[in-house]
Amino acid sequence: MNGEFVAWDDAKVHVLSHGLHYGTGVFEGIRCYETERGPAIFRHREHLQRLAQSAELYYMDLGYAPDELRQATHELIRRNDLRACYIRPLAFRGYGEMGLYAQDSPIEVMIAAWPWGAYLGDEGKREGIRAKVSSWRRISPAGLIPHAKASGQYLNSILAKTETAKAGYDEAILLEQDGTVCEGSGENVFIVREGEIATPGHTASILDGISRKSVIQIATDLGYTVVERDVSRSELYLADEMFLCGTAAELVPVREVDDHEIGPPGELTRLIQSKFEDALHGRAQEYLEWLDFVEVPSKVTS
Ligand SMILES: Cc1ncc(COP(=O)(O)O)c(C=O)c1O
Repeated sequence: MNGEFVAWDDAKVHVLSHGLHYGTGVFEGIRCYETERGPAIFRHREHLQRLAQSAELYYMDLGYAPDELRQATHELIRRNDLRACYIRPLAFRGYGEMGLYAQDSPIEVMIAAWPWGAYLGDEGKREGIRAKVSSWRRISPAGLIPHAKASGQYLNSILAKTETAKAGYDEAILLEQDGTVCEGSGENVFIVREGEIATPGHTASILDGISRKSVIQIATDLGYTVVERDVSRSELYLADEMFLCGTAAELVPVREVDDHEIGPPGELTRLIQSKFEDALHGRAQEYLEWLDFVEVPSKVTS
């Protein structure tokens, strides 16, 4: 936290922190996996690059180079003796100017790491989840920055998630202002129709997900064509297969949308999911370059 290692219980902020009031923060969600060669952070550099870009978009100076954050994260994992964990870097405007133009407020930077299971559950990953289109539209580039991973923007995801969870569904799908499909509350969306894999393009109001990029690469390497294009709501209902992907949720099949049955996880979803899991856990030779291995002292076995 701000350059120091701080005990969990002491990681506190002032109640007048700007970010707490106005959501002026940028963050990342990153995962580290246990592999045969020790803990490995999936696409760490890309996540840190996106953090820097989110900061830039909100006129925030992180004050640390991506490699400094990377080294601090490695040390955090070592000190906590973690293997598989979720990593949350956050930079936010701290205690200082309370007005909206707070360019002089200090930027506080923290990184936390803790063990955290699959966001939509292991059963969801195996059997598929039930999703519902939210009545809340995804934030538009006319008013916010969909491509930034900024704290305040997540009120949009939280409204959608809360609405659909209260209605008894596992995840929310958000639409663009014009009614085309955007993404899940914390995941990107893919459908399979008549052998074509489609996902909303990166100029849609989506977070340009790192899992999304990885899935596109994997599907392409498997010989499939992934088309980035507008996806209509009814295409979700008519899809042969559908899945979501994101760092927290990983790759999750969708078996039902708005009470339209898609069915149990399909063949293509399974194939891509299994390759994706191999990539995350360091079992896919061709994607080893996606992993940032953390040097940890070898365990002494007696
Ligand atoms: C709104 C939203 N869309 C998509 C994603 C997936 O992005 P990634 O695969 O980089 O985790 C996330 C998760 O970070 C998200 O919060």
